[in-house]
Amino acid sequence: GPVVGIVPAAGRGVRLGQELPKAFVELDGRTMLDRAVESMLDSGEVDRVVVVVPPELAATQPEQLVRAPFSERVSVVAGGAERADSVRAGLACASDARFVLVHDAARVLTPPGLFARVVAELRRGSDAVIPVLPVTDTIKSVDAQGAVTGTPDRASLRAVQTPQGFDVALLSRANTDAGDATDDAGLVERLGERVDTVAGDPLAFKITTPLDLVLARALLASGAR
Ligand code: C5P
Repeated sequence: GPVVGIVPAAGRGVRLGQELPKAFVELDGRTMLDRAVESMLDSGEVDRVVVVVPPELAATQPEQLVRAPFSERVSVVAGGAERADSVRAGLACASDARFVLVHDAARVLTPPGLFARVVAELRRGSDAVIPVLPVTDTIKSVDAQGAVTGTPDRASLRAVQTPQGFDVALLSRANTDAGDATDDAGLVERLGERVDTVAGDPLAFKITTPLDLVLARALLASGAR
């Protein structure tokens, strides 16, 4: 069966201070969503992509979101109240899939090799795989007052990126009763199933803050795509 990408872009992204959902914010004249979806399809690892949009945008045609010919391999569905509801809507459009890759539109500069590593791990037999990077800052836990309560061993910590790859049946099972969970792999862990990791890539950073936008624009200006 095919590898189907799911891009949950149905949130009301306010974090970049914009009115539009974050995925619809433009970077050098093209939306983050357009760039992210094209990077998935152009990697050669993803057969088609389901873009999950806010319900009021559900009538949007693929060619309004992504340029041709990539738009021919894109479908658009309406999302739900919580992120997990939106992933579920995407899964409903991926019943033919063998594997699904859930990917953040905001990881615009994700290189093709990262999609390849995740898919290769799935083909090797992993049912859930996430890309991770070592943590460079020391991480503390704090209480409600901001007082430090602990210092987890940094060597055992990883920062998690996307695409997160899953056997479609496993993610469908994990996504049932997801509530307001925002981490797909976390749902799989909750089932007691194994989640594997592959090396992430710094270029797969999530554009979240104005500083991230500066970095993304500089990378695009210097020839990244
Ligand atoms: O960056 P963050 O982890 O907050 O990502 C949340 C993602 O989930 C965003 O891409 C957002 O568009 C998406 N989402 C969704 N449906 C919702 C809420 C969030 O697709 N109801």
